[in-house]
Amino acid sequence: MSIQKLTYLEPDPIFALKSEFERDTNPQKINLGIGVITNDQGNTYAFESLQNIVVPKNDNYLPIEGDPIFKKRFEDFFLDFADKENITSVQTVGGTHANFLAGRIFQKMGFEKIYFPNPTWSNHPGIFGEAGLEVTKIDYYDSETKKLKTNFLKSVENIADNSLISLDACGHNPTGVDLNSDEIAEIINIAKKKKLIFFIDAAYIGLVNDTLEQDLELVKKLYEAEITFAMAFSFSKNMSLYGQRLGLLTFLNIKNKKEIITSNLEKIIRVTLSNAPRYPSDLATQILGDKTLLEKWQQELKTIRKDMLKMRQQLVYKLNLYNIVTANALVEQKGLFSLFSNLDTKKLKKDYAIYIPKNGRINISGIKPNNLDRLAEAISQSLF
Ligand SMILES: Cc1ncc(COP(=O)(O)O)c(C=O)c1O
Repeated sequence: MSIQKLTYLEPDPIFALKSEFERDTNPQKINLGIGVITNDQGNTYAFESLQNIVVPKNDNYLPIEGDPIFKKRFEDFFLDFADKENITSVQTVGGTHANFLAGRIFQKMGFEKIYFPNPTWSNHPGIFGEAGLEVTKIDYYDSETKKLKTNFLKSVENIADNSLISLDACGHNPTGVDLNSDEIAEIINIAKKKKLIFFIDAAYIGLVNDTLEQDLELVKKLYEAEITFAMAFSFSKNMSLYGQRLGLLTFLNIKNKKEIITSNLEKIIRVTLSNAPRYPSDLATQILGDKTLLEKWQQELKTIRKDMLKMRQQLVYKLNLYNIVTANALVEQKGLFSLFSNLDTKKLKKDYAIYIPKNGRINISGIKPNNLDRLAEAISQSLF
């Protein structure tokens, strides 16, 4: 046994790009990389509704399963359709930790494999691989039409009964392509027939569709169909708590297995992170428990959504002026991301200080009225 056994592993591409962007001294630099919502100056967005909250001084540990008041307010607000005896939530250190916990407990349940859409969030294979599962991709995104692959539902029908399959709740990372209501109904029919179990990654709730109900449509329909599933929820983007690390893992439709599931999740939490940080859940607890703050926060989310939608439309409009129509599907996509698979991202970085990951995923929130023209011109010069 020795250090020689280790080989050097490449840095995480998204975080490496973030560091490169921060080091760049070009005043015109544009960051379309990491999935962070920014203000017009390009700084991390700060919700006004969170600014004046005074968090009670308490440096004691939270319970392993998280703050009970926070969890209750979370479930009452986001999962009001669910019978509380039929669900269980634990507080996690952001959405990533919720993903990992899900992977570990699914592995303990005996699952050997999980199906993810192709492509999926770049961290999914690593997280679920580390948790001991084999990660398999199924056809999801059609890079020609920039829409859902026509054979997606057929592919789901072809996987083995009792399989574990993952979908994003809304605002699919990295494509921005979600299932519509008919497709949700179809996948639920297939899932019921095949007794599929789901892992739903919910990192963008409140940031995608016109209403919260629409963002939660897949989650609610799965619940109503009595399908057992786990949901990893993140407050990183929708409360701008990136560095604070707040999330939850909820299991739904668990019948009378609430205590067994919770106890197993607690065991994994205790040996990995012991318990979650208190400060961010104190903030969210206050937002979710105060009518005025809650309304203000939702109003801010609405403004962010509207701004992103406007920027999607404006980018397509500007690209059309360069006779580029291949990006027109962007306006039908949703949320923070879209894929530009035919972009020369190296050239964009070198010649224009525009930072986009190699796969061409752009963070729409990085597009601003003051960088739009430059961005459209740069893209027009950097398409393969
Ligand atoms: C699909 C998806 N899941 C989970 C996460 C993790 O979020 P967090 O930063 O809360 O760990 C992200 C963040 O980029 C994401 O895009």
